[in-house]
Amino acid sequence: MKVLVSDNLSATGVEILKKESGIEVDVKTGLPKEELIKIIPNYDGLIVRSATKVVAEIIDAASNLKVIGRAGIGVDNIDVEAAGKKGIIVMNAPEGNIITTAEHTMALLMSLSRNIPQANAALKNKKWSPKEFMGVELFEKNLGIIGLGRIGSIVAERAHAFHMKILVYDPYISQERAEKLGVELVDLPDLLGRSDFLTLHTPGLSGKPLLGKEEFGQMKPGIRIVNCARGSLIDDSALIEAVQSKQVAGAALDVYHKEPLDLDSPLLQVNEIICTPHLGASTEEAQEKVAIAICDQIIDYLKYGNVRNAVNVPSIDAETLGIIKPYLVLGEDLGNFISQLVDGPVTRIDIQYNGEVSTMKVEPITIAILKGLFNRSIEGINMVNAPFIAKERGIEVQESKSSEVHEYTSTIQVRVTSENGTRKVTGSIFGKGDSRIVQFDEYNMEAVLSKNMLVLKNMDVPGVIGNLGNVLGKNNLNIAGFHLGRRETEGKAIAIINIDSPPTTEALRELRNTSHILSVDSVTL
Ligand code: NAD
Ligand code: MLT
Repeated sequence: MKVLVSDNLSATGVEILKKESGIEVDVKTGLPKEELIKIIPNYDGLIVRSATKVVAEIIDAASNLKVIGRAGIGVDNIDVEAAGKKGIIVMNAPEGNIITTAEHTMALLMSLSRNIPQANAALKNKKWSPKEFMGVELFEKNLGIIGLGRIGSIVAERAHAFHMKILVYDPYISQERAEKLGVELVDLPDLLGRSDFLTLHTPGLSGKPLLGKEEFGQMKPGIRIVNCARGSLIDDSALIEAVQSKQVAGAALDVYHKEPLDLDSPLLQVNEIICTPHLGASTEEAQEKVAIAICDQIIDYLKYGNVRNAVNVPSIDAETLGIIKPYLVLGEDLGNFISQLVDGPVTRIDIQYNGEVSTMKVEPITIAILKGLFNRSIEGINMVNAPFIAKERGIEVQESKSSEVHEYTSTIQVRVTSENGTRKVTGSIFGKGDSRIVQFDEYNMEAVLSKNMLVLKNMDVPGVIGNLGNVLGKNNLNIAGFHLGRRETEGKAIAIINIDSPPTTEALRELRNTSHILSVDSVTL
């Protein structure tokens, strides 16, 4: 298998790839897009940092690519959706540079409070003017943190050492976590109005920036702002205006809307704005850590199929995988089974997890069901592209859970709706991992899922099963299992028959012509 490293990656990571048997690695950095498009079909894996822009055209050309690894956190230089549709996993290395980036944030906070870059530049310009660079203390000041994730939390810890009071705006953080980190959770206007310093640590945005004219207007006058997250979080013109009007005393930026930053950018003309060239993750330690992490993950996926830190498919650790594996198999089989019995294009899927399985991580099981649903109709369907395909086709997917236990400790019901009606199948796991159908439409049964099956609906009258046996025998179809579900009130029954080989068209025709048989479908898993 071949891996291309298209950005500067720490040598330790490249060595890991080189030493791995069965993996060949090429390091080709700074390639123009056209060149990358030309060579990408040769590779199974691609590793980038932020310089390579993995756009849809590159992904389109990547006929063998299985995985794209980002040595770092942000995947905004990768068209994740295009990769997903093509079944390519995108993974990042989210842990390796968080300390380094938090430290850069602290460095910028201190630079801002004491005007260090400006004072250094003045002195080097032969100007001794200490009065010009009077600073402020961090001690007992309010630090507003927007985004208390991996980096924001480390910044909070470090800021405590400076005796800062920490206010946090993060709508996804619990009160319990906030208390554990010794921070006060507030809403955005409150944070803006009370913070002496403000630092951003959320993912980038594609729409309206988080801090624009309105937000600058709500800030405590004289606030100082640090952005080590993403340039898209701040409206640059509004920032410059706020600095010039003295509403904001200063800002320190490491990230920009467009990188590399245009060297004529107005941001570089404002003395109170300190700019670093996206240095947040640039330490030897962090670059080595992210390189090692991403190379290990790529090897683990290409050689053993283990998915870690994927951003477009749920990651499953080995322990969870051990627990949910039988349900992944059952889910895929149920999706595949019902896809062959539903009439017309599917518009909606309702998945009901009941009992023990409802306490597990069900997201991958839902994806397995979708994969099963498309197995026969879409070539190259996999756990990455299945949700994208469902979305693309306008199929509504609804999940629900209940811990209630009835006859079985766990069941998964897949209810599929098309323009022509609804069909449902419920499955369970027996013993050490045997998949069974326990209900099909309204019929209770315990049917084994196997490669070749016949699903028959018949009138529940004497003699039907005998006739059926005769037709199957005549057509050389050996019965491996026979499972019956009856609804006495309706006088009808459903049979799921496991057969050793698929039925011929002739056999199906004969079965359909057998008296009291209402419908016959062949299902292949
Ligand atoms: P993370 O995912 O661990 O944390 C992000 C936090 O932001 C989460 O707690 C989330 O709940 C919160 N959040 C999301 N949307 C929000 C919103 N609208 N308002 C408030 N909070 C919101 O991310 P991380 O690993 O801490 O990284 C944070 C940022 O730093 C990312 O943008 C990442 O790309 C960037 N980064 C930059 C550098 C650099 O070199 N400058 C290095 C590493 C990471
Ligand atoms: C990241 O997202 O990891 C950072 O922006 C650092 C980098 O670009 O490598």
